[in-house]
Amino acid sequence: MRTRLTDAFGIRHPIICAPMALVTGGRLAATVSHAGGLGIVGGGYAGVIGGEPDLKQELAHVQGHKFGIGFITWALARVPHVLDEVLSYSPYCVFLSFGDPRPFVGRIRQSGAKLICQVQSLRQIDEAIEAGATAIVAQGTEAGGHGATRSTLPFVPEAADYLAKNAPTTLLLAAGGIADGRGLAAALMLGADGIVVGTRFWASEEALTPPAASDRAIRATGDDTVRTKAIDALRGVSWPGEFSFRVVKNKLTEQWAHREAEATAAFGSLAAAYAAARSRQDLDVVAVVAGECIGLISDRPSAASIVEAMVVQAELLLGQGATRDFAGSTAKLRMQQTR
Ligand SMILES: Cc1cc2nc3c(=O)[nH]c(=O)nc-3n(C[C@H](O)[C@H](O)[C@H](O)COP(=O)(O)O)c2cc1C
Repeated sequence: MRTRLTDAFGIRHPIICAPMALVTGGRLAATVSHAGGLGIVGGGYAGVIGGEPDLKQELAHVQGHKFGIGFITWALARVPHVLDEVLSYSPYCVFLSFGDPRPFVGRIRQSGAKLICQVQSLRQIDEAIEAGATAIVAQGTEAGGHGATRSTLPFVPEAADYLAKNAPTTLLLAAGGIADGRGLAAALMLGADGIVVGTRFWASEEALTPPAASDRAIRATGDDTVRTKAIDALRGVSWPGEFSFRVVKNKLTEQWAHREAEATAAFGSLAAAYAAARSRQDLDVVAVVAGECIGLISDRPSAASIVEAMVVQAELLLGQGATRDFAGSTAKLRMQQTR
């Protein structure tokens, strides 16, 4: 499946595995790259909040493959030396999301890595263009994990139009709610050059996702996720105010999801209880992090088979769509001509 992304990045399929904190380790990233997409190791909070896997160990798994590394930008800004450490592993690209990418651009460019910036609003696109991003990811609110309020369906084409006018060589990727070939085909139709997939790969064999979490999430429907700022506040992780967290509903979200102001006032009050719940895998407290498209997922197959199934289905649909469209518009034209 050839797009501007596959040409520019030298990959076979326009599918990028999102850098999911605590989930996209070296094995998952390597598997997606080997299958023809591009895997991006989740550097997450760059060690700022603790409890994350050893990044050096994960990067060791991915050596010999084309791979990227992603960070939560506001966290990286607190420990900027971590960027230099990972650049020494020669990532093909660096993926930055949730903060101003511009302070990091010089070092990334100097290393020869490409920059991918994930954005949640049109306003942030200007920052990403100014940073010289090779690709910009328009992330819709449907996404699992952190994000904001724009929806994928209108945000991606608006971003496509904006880039066509202001930075036509910058690639556009769509993220948020894409779990199968229908989503891939739709994203390409909306003007994206490729997709960034999180939740679907979260439920893959190679992900670091605990089995208890994927077992629970696989039974959930899209109705069962919620986006809220309350969890970060209660666990004492200081996210910038514009971002919230999409997770599968549990007892904690039932109690707190809609009490964001109260949770903010109680900042950090559940930090110790949350950490303890994480260590005993108590999923009534600890968030199972997944997006709305969890309702399209009912298994935990190999990431390679996910890539393949997505591509096969998208190619089929795009082929049929083109034929149908063409046939439809030809028929309409004929009717107009004979009237
Ligand atoms: C479990 C999980 C963890 C995530 N962690 C990060 C992260 O550390 N950094 C980041 O930029 N995005 C993160 N994301 C968001 C992804 O980059 C991406 O935008 C999102 O997964 C796309 O939507 P989808 O989940 O519907 O595929 C995470 C998503 C999930 C599901």
